[in-house]
Amino acid sequence: MTLEQIRKQLEERGQTQLLRFYEELNEDEQKTLLEEISRIDFDMIDHPQGTDGGGVITPIGALTLDQIHDQEAEFRNEGIRAIQNNEVAAVLLAGGQGTRLGLDGPKGTLNVGLTKELFIFQCLINNLMDVKKAADAWIPLLIMTSDKNDAATRAFFREHDYFGYNPDYVFFFIQEMAPSTDFNGKVYLEEKGHISLSPNGNGGWFISLKKAGLVDKIKEMGVKWLNIFAVDNVLQRIADPVFVGATIKSGKPIGAKVIRKAAPDEKVGVICNRDGRPSIVEYYELTDAMMEEKNEDGELAYNFGVILNYLFSLGELERIANDQMPLHIVDKKIPYVDENGNKIKPEQPNGHKYETLVLDMIQMMDGCLVFEVDRAKEFAPIKNMHGVDSLDSAREMMQKIGIEL
Ligand code: UTP
Repeated sequence: MTLEQIRKQLEERGQTQLLRFYEELNEDEQKTLLEEISRIDFDMIDHPQGTDGGGVITPIGALTLDQIHDQEAEFRNEGIRAIQNNEVAAVLLAGGQGTRLGLDGPKGTLNVGLTKELFIFQCLINNLMDVKKAADAWIPLLIMTSDKNDAATRAFFREHDYFGYNPDYVFFFIQEMAPSTDFNGKVYLEEKGHISLSPNGNGGWFISLKKAGLVDKIKEMGVKWLNIFAVDNVLQRIADPVFVGATIKSGKPIGAKVIRKAAPDEKVGVICNRDGRPSIVEYYELTDAMMEEKNEDGELAYNFGVILNYLFSLGELERIANDQMPLHIVDKKIPYVDENGNKIKPEQPNGHKYETLVLDMIQMMDGCLVFEVDRAKEFAPIKNMHGVDSLDSAREMMQKIGIEL
């Protein structure tokens, strides 16, 4: 698009601030900025297709710890068989910016060790290595990064020799970006000649994997199941054979690891059925009566929170790959250039990022195996430095189960 076409479009959309410093830029910078602007999806910002929740919410059955314990050997054997057959790959979602943690580098490079180095990435690889040893087979590990942290993430793995993992089985791919805006939907400039872009959420992971040519690659390898997981849960069990076996045996297209809520009103998203399909319900969608509701066993009916650890059937992912996903508008701290050309690093959220989320993929599936795990053993997310879900709380949990820090 020419400068005139872009100027006209920006006037129509009320986004002329993007050309505020145009005259100060050299020719190359001007060209780059115009290219960036022409790629903006303004419809997404002006008319975001969100999710309004709704629908009829009913409880969903879960495989509880006791039930899993009774069938553990059977599930494990099936899981190990699938892993040895190369049917399972792991997908590490590491494209986020970890703004709450406030690190400069990728979240996975955070050292959780106290007397020695023990990085988040290293914890995850150690956990995956347990399965590699049990199955005597390498599990392909697909790592999603973003433009913001791709180079640093790859370099970190290389510098640390992949923490003992086999690099032939590690594949990186980059997610897409979306513009960030102020609270009124005006796109920020990150520099005078660059618009502010941020990773577009963790919901686009499968499309990005496909675009990187990795879906074809893993299909050739024989992969049928993808275990996706978040970077920040240092106790994450990855390609857990018992979970894999249970999901395959259930005949469902997806398995979701869940933890029991600490209290009926704990503020976590819970898994349930919405209009008969598996779905994640936000805590505020549950009425008081639903929070207290019991099932026939006398247990809370809406009792299981998700921990971002899912096993998806690859065939089903391909079926839904092009389906539209709802957009979530999230308040975040967004560095920007103000109208006087000063670079501002805000202390408080100052605008919106636009994200699709992996949890919305659950509803696109025909059924889900809800698989309970022990919170104390498998859920220690590091979202903040201190307080709830923090480096401090994760360290405490790790030490409690005997991990040396
Ligand atoms: P979070 O919701 O915790 O977001 O991501 P975040 O960006 O890491 O952290 P904050 O909210 O800015 O503090 C949950 C998981 O999804 C990944 C993250 O890396 C994490 O593993 N993620 C998130 C992506 O891969 N891409 C994204 O665009 C967002």
